[in-house]
Parts: sequence; structure tokens; C-alpha cells
Amino acid sequence: NKCFVTSFRNGYIKANDVVLPVYFKKFGQRIQDMDIRDDDIWVCSYPKTGTTWCQEMTWCIANDLDFEGAKQFLPERFPFLDHTPLFDYEKVLPEKPDLKLPLYVSDSIEFINGLKSPRFIKTHLPYKLLPKKLRDQSTKAKIVYVARNPKDTCLSYFHHCCLLEGYTGNFEDFCKLFTSDSLCFSPFFDHILGYWNRRDDSQVLFLKYEDMKQDLRAVIRRTAQFLGKDLLDDQVLVLEDHLSFESMKNNRAVNYEPVIEINKTHNLIEADGSFMRSGTVGGGKQKMSPEFVNIFDEWEEKCLGKSGLKF
Ligand code: A3P
Repeated sequence: NKCFVTSFRNGYIKANDVVLPVYFKKFGQRIQDMDIRDDDIWVCSYPKTGTTWCQEMTWCIANDLDFEGAKQFLPERFPFLDHTPLFDYEKVLPEKPDLKLPLYVSDSIEFINGLKSPRFIKTHLPYKLLPKKLRDQSTKAKIVYVARNPKDTCLSYFHHCCLLEGYTGNFEDFCKLFTSDSLCFSPFFDHILGYWNRRDDSQVLFLKYEDMKQDLRAVIRRTAQFLGKDLLDDQVLVLEDHLSFESMKNNRAVNYEPVIEINKTHNLIEADGSFMRSGTVGGGKQKMSPEFVNIFDEWEEKCLGKSGLKF
């Protein structure tokens, strides 16, 4: 039943030069054809770059700091479009009759289509694979993108794959997978540049994890302005506190503990750890060998050199 052992790399396909969950074969066209609403708010990112943090910030601002409403489980109020079931659930389910999948897992598109407006949607898709109507900007839907430096993204992705995807290799081998753009939603820098190149569009807000760490208040204010919301100074402080690492780590609506617990109950994962792991900047560089630090630096220079984007 440990389907995860083989799902780590076998469960992916390549389409349009992007590594995608194998489920994209089934859902890709429906995603392309999705209806987009003027008041949709999308949070887009490469995995492990602070997506959840950015979702919670965006949702709270757009909902006038409705902390009561924010007690609802994040994936229900801010579903993940390209949900990537880690297991072949169709095979697992008959053996686990008590494992009932919510609609936002079994068919995220149908779930999202049925949401009341304004909808909040998370995706890890690169810009070029977003739904056609979102890309061609025929609506006023808004996109918040969050990027993170590659070394910390890689370390966080490594822990995520150990915890939830059954990765059993070492960090060094994971760095090889990361820098060879073999991981899901890679190529990494193409992902960032696809959105960076749109940063001046009025419908796109480009954020960096490192800026959120350095000055969360400033990022809250920028995001509020982007969403057309006025926040008083003391509201910014209250939200800053709600979004602190400690507070999010202890918040079951956003810390994914319920998901980890369900997976453990059903013997689908056995690793230990938490989704809210360290929440810091610089850990990746510390953990890497000097050789890999160089490989990452040269790779970054080659891909971002002329873009004006720096981490
Ligand atoms: P680490 O593994 O480096 O700790 P995503 O939501 O895209 O999967 O990103 C997860 C990363 O964001 C994890 O990084 C997690 O700890 C970090 N994160 C989540 N909430 C955070 C917060 N409030 N402050 C700082 N980092 C946060």
C-alpha cells in the first residue's frame, strides 16, 4: 500500500517543456478552458516558495480581516487548482473505503467552478499554462505571484518530498534533481520569469518570500493596495501577527496538520516533520556543499542575469 514509494518520479509527465503531475493529462484541457471571473484572485507560485503564507495574507486582506472566516480549512476557501494527488487514489480508494476524498481533491475544477464569488484559487502552473482566459486578460482577475530564492526553495522542497512524497534519497541527490529541472513544475527559473515578465501588468503583483521575511508590513500594504483595500495601521499590525511563522505554525486551518494526520492514519506516509518547517532565509546555502552553492549561483546568474531580478 505504500504507493508513494513509486509515485515520486513516476507520477509526472512533461508537457510544453514543463514537468507536471500525471493528472494533468486528465485535467489539462479543462484547466485551459476554465471560465475566469472578474473578481477572481489567484495566488501562483513554484512549490515551496511561501504559497500558503501568501494565500493567507491575500485571503485575509481581501476579506477585510475576517479571522472568524479564516478558521475554515485553507484548501476549502482557497483551493488548489492543479491538485496533485500523491497517490493513485483510484487504486487506493477501493482498499480504503473509509478514506473519503473531498471534492476539492477529487475534482478541484468542479469544486472551483461551484464556488461563490469572489473566488480564491491557488496554482503552481507556470504563466504559459494558466487558463486561457486568465492569460489573455479578457477579465479583471488578479494574480499574486510569490517567488523565493532557489537554494531555500530547494531545501524546503526536499523536506516536503521526504514528508509527503516518499522521497528517500539524500539532499545532494535532490539538489541534482532541482538544478536539472526534473522536479514537478520545473523549469524553476522559467516559472519565475514567466510571471516576472508580467510584473508591470496592472493585474499582476510580483512578491518575494525574502521581502515578506524582511518587511511583512510593507508587503501587506502593497498587497492591500493591489487588491484595492485600505488598511489602518493597527489592522496591518494585527494581520502581521496573524501571519507570523509562530502563529501560522499553530494554526490548523493553514498548517496542513490535518492532511498529514489523515495520510498517517491511512498508512500513506510514514515520515515525520511539519509543513511549517523553519520559515527562514539562508538555510539552503548552509545545508549545501560548496560545490552545489557554486552550481546554484552560476545557474541563477545564467538564467536571471539580464532580467533585473535578484534574490
Ligand atoms: P520552509 O520549508 O523553508 O520552512 P509553500 O506554502 O509554497 O509550500 O511554502 C512552504 C514554505 O513557506 C515553508 O518553508 C514554510 O515554513 C514557509 N512558511 C509558511 N508560512 C510561513 C510564515 N508565516 N513565515 C515564514 N515562512 C512561512
